[in-house]
Amino acid sequence: MITNLQTVLRCATVLATLSTVATACGDDASSDDAPDGGCPAVDAGCPAVDAGCPAGCPAPAGDLQTPPQGTPAAIDAWIAAGSYKGAGWKCEAAPHPARSPSPHGVNLICNNTKLSGTAAPADYPFGAASVKELYAADNTTIIGYATGLKLQNGASTGDKWYWYEKLSGSVVYNGKGTAANSDVCSGCHAGAGSDAAHPGRDFVYTQVP
Ligand code: HEC
Repeated sequence: MITNLQTVLRCATVLATLSTVATACGDDASSDDAPDGGCPAVDAGCPAVDAGCPAGCPAPAGDLQTPPQGTPAAIDAWIAAGSYKGAGWKCEAAPHPARSPSPHGVNLICNNTKLSGTAAPADYPFGAASVKELYAADNTTIIGYATGLKLQNGASTGDKWYWYEKLSGSVVYNGKGTAANSDVCSGCHAGAGSDAAHPGRDFVYTQVP
């Protein structure tokens, strides 16, 4: 997986040092060709995430507060189950036109408890997540979804986020961002809070109150 190549290479070094045989960091052994996200310790110790993450990191399989990290099918199924509209989540009241500099079109954003409940100016903790419903211009028909999940504590770089977007049946992005913010999602979300035209902070533009 090209998006994860740097991580894999870095982790291969760590794994070699530890003389441990394990699946590559940030990816499992399956042939689904989907990156499998990460944990707080991924870059330090490279656990095989599907073998179980250390305590205190978002579970790759997801839970009621956490979008999964994995195949589009797994993420789509989690979205379809609708837990992002359930207990502890806060959603905007109605779809709204994209807010500059958003490319997302008409959309509605929901935040999980960790995201909506983290008061400014603190950085968001691991497990903070948003789900965005993407609408057609009729403001009614949902044509896609985007998710963002913070994987580690501390000020963000792109590789602390797991991004997913599917629009009109096509997967736009699925996987961790890059440390250099060179992926499409982190490249723009890195600007959150940078000036008056870019509200928010720590890679999040909209915190639902
Ligand atoms: C050119 C800038 C830009 C790009 C590229 C971009 N976004 Fe966004 N995104 C925004 C803005 C601005 C908002 C908030 C307002 C809105 O969307 O109307 C937003 C909102 C979101 C949200 C809700 C949480 C938040 O930060 O407000 C998620 C989740 C999200 N985007 C995911 C993604 C994903 C996944 C990608 C890559 C496939 C992506 N975005 C690409 C600008 C961008």
